Amino acid sequence: MNKRRLLITSGLPYANGAIHLGHMVEVIQTDIFARAMRMMGHEALYMCADDTHGTPIEISATKRGISPEQLIAEAWASHTKDFKGFDIDFAHYYTTNSPENKALAYGIYDSLLKAGLIREETVKQLYSESMQRFLPDRYVKGICPKCGAADQYGDCCEVCKAHYDALDLVEPHCVLDGSVPVVRESHHLFISLSSMTDELRRFAESDALEPEVRNFVKTWLDEGLQDWNISRDKPYFGFEIPGHPDKYFYVWMDAPIGYIATTDAWCKAHGESLDKYWRSPDTEVWHFIGKDIIYFHTLFWPAMLRVSGFSLPHRVHAHGFLTVNGTKMSKSRGTFILASKYLDVLPAAYLRFYFAAKLASGVEDIDLNIEDFYFRVRSGLIDNLANLHNRSFSFAETKLGGKLSTARYDDDCRKLIADAKARLAEIADLYANLNTAAAVKAICEIGNAANLFYQEKAPWAYLKGENADVEMARAIVTACAEVVRLIAIAIKPVVPDFSAKIFAQLNIGDQNLADVDAALGDGNVISHVEKTYIRPEREEFDKLTAPDALAAPAPVIPGDEKVEEKKVIEVERRPLKDLIDFEDFEKLDIRVGKVLACEKVKKSNKLLCSQVEIGHPDGPVQIVSGISKHYQPESMVGRYVLVVTNLKPREMFGLKSQGMILAASDEAGLELPSTILRAAGAQVK
Ligand code: MSP
Ligand code: ZN
Repeated sequence: MNKRRLLITSGLPYANGAIHLGHMVEVIQTDIFARAMRMMGHEALYMCADDTHGTPIEISATKRGISPEQLIAEAWASHTKDFKGFDIDFAHYYTTNSPENKALAYGIYDSLLKAGLIREETVKQLYSESMQRFLPDRYVKGICPKCGAADQYGDCCEVCKAHYDALDLVEPHCVLDGSVPVVRESHHLFISLSSMTDELRRFAESDALEPEVRNFVKTWLDEGLQDWNISRDKPYFGFEIPGHPDKYFYVWMDAPIGYIATTDAWCKAHGESLDKYWRSPDTEVWHFIGKDIIYFHTLFWPAMLRVSGFSLPHRVHAHGFLTVNGTKMSKSRGTFILASKYLDVLPAAYLRFYFAAKLASGVEDIDLNIEDFYFRVRSGLIDNLANLHNRSFSFAETKLGGKLSTARYDDDCRKLIADAKARLAEIADLYANLNTAAAVKAICEIGNAANLFYQEKAPWAYLKGENADVEMARAIVTACAEVVRLIAIAIKPVVPDFSAKIFAQLNIGDQNLADVDAALGDGNVISHVEKTYIRPEREEFDKLTAPDALAAPAPVIPGDEKVEEKKVIEVERRPLKDLIDFEDFEKLDIRVGKVLACEKVKKSNKLLCSQVEIGHPDGPVQIVSGISKHYQPESMVGRYVLVVTNLKPREMFGLKSQGMILAASDEAGLELPSTILRAAGAQVK
């Protein structure tokens, strides 16, 4: 085997918030990949850290009357506790506010200076006199200069999606104290990226990016690279810029350097050289990130690395965003689930298993649907894999004294094992290509085959009667235990606790892909059998989104300075349909209706059937709509909805549908329009 060396990272979580299940998508995907590479015998170090700098941290700390250092120390303790709870195996989890990071940031800045890539310019910015600070774009709101929408942030409009300069905002005010900012000048430092366009284009075209991401990066390159402002005025929590008193590096300048700094700290503790990991073609650097921070990792970051002589990433893998029950995580809906809350309710392994079963290498969003979550954990992990372990191991221990033997293996036993073994190389490849969904599917197929074998061979039947044949029972159970061992190796990156229990009950040490051929047989003993997981109840899963799962109220401090991050890539855009005449539009009879009753349509996982009062003398109408993934039937009752009442009736699943409920959907999911209707609803009754 060609032993690879990988340095793996995931996006550094901001220190100004708690870890939530959105973060966990990324961290779990990264951990599974790193563990899988180690399981295959490669060297794979997973480095991560808290991203601790920026205005929000400084303001939160001031508000709480503590130092920023104290605030980020609290965040570090809370984040690392959550990650430990989810079995995340970091080589090192550090902080960007470290001496290593400062030294590296200064070094890289120096390289940029020497390469002539830093230029200074005086710029006008909004300044709050009451707070004595320049205001980042997310700290001002006003009227959109393009479409006139009220209450829009200083960087872009959520209504018309226009990007603009905060100075162009009409009637701006500060979101913190409502004061009206003034315009002030300050000089700033910019990295000129345009001279590196060709270099970055070569990177974008390399295998480091997946095709979907590559296309976006190429579009950005075609649009032309803007110079990037890397300085911020005091007060700011960060690294002061050498030679520029009271100016600090913008958080996004030193944040990715944190990847190197974390490795540096690890190297010092382990007597290793940093160059081996960051300046050697023998190490593959892998970045796992969300789709919101692609711009930084595919343009700014490679430019910084190149200029300062570090290796370019071998791969930048972007994943989609987490939605819960089909919509964007929302505090008011109780679907903004904190990692700590999850751990109070369910075992970490269930979420690891579920995310693994859903994640592949694409950028599509990933949905945590509570019902589907329960179903997949039950059918895949519990009733299949854990059940195979439990039934065969308990039988071995209680009926056969735990002793295994291959003496009476027949062709069926050999075939069962050979079939399972034959799939392990394929599973390893799937992990290596980030297709954990297919890996989990393959492992579950092995489990299904073995469960069927156990059922059909019925080892218990060999224990009684005149034809009793204990050694045959032992062979059957041994074959199953052998498959359980192979499954434990294969699924170890996903649910390491499951595999560890199995290796312990088999009284063998930890095993990896290289141990596949070390078959169980005479001399192996099963003991201390215990279930890997207790079969969970459906109600346990509902607790995740129960009202007490509500996260803390939204902070007044805007989350972060995601200015450039607004270049979120969209996977799919629907083209507009052809124009229609007003007469065509007039044909639609759209009314506000009130839902009187609503239930799930049997045998369909998409449809709800509602009785809707539309104020017509014939009484309420029945409407079948595909909204079941997004709305519980109970939550529909009493709701006002927009209805197209004159669609020709249609039958679905044997139910007549007399119209259509209108809904809006975007990548985050589907939503029934509600605010306007609350007012309109008053006139319906
Ligand atoms: N601090 C920056 C990253 C700096 S990397 C040098 C940041 N922090 S974050 O806390 O907002 O996000 C950390 C990582 O989690 C990012 O990769 C982000 O894309 C990911 N996610 C945050 N919310 C997410 C979801 N709801 N779903 C999936 N991933 C999400 O960005
Ligand atoms: Zn607008």
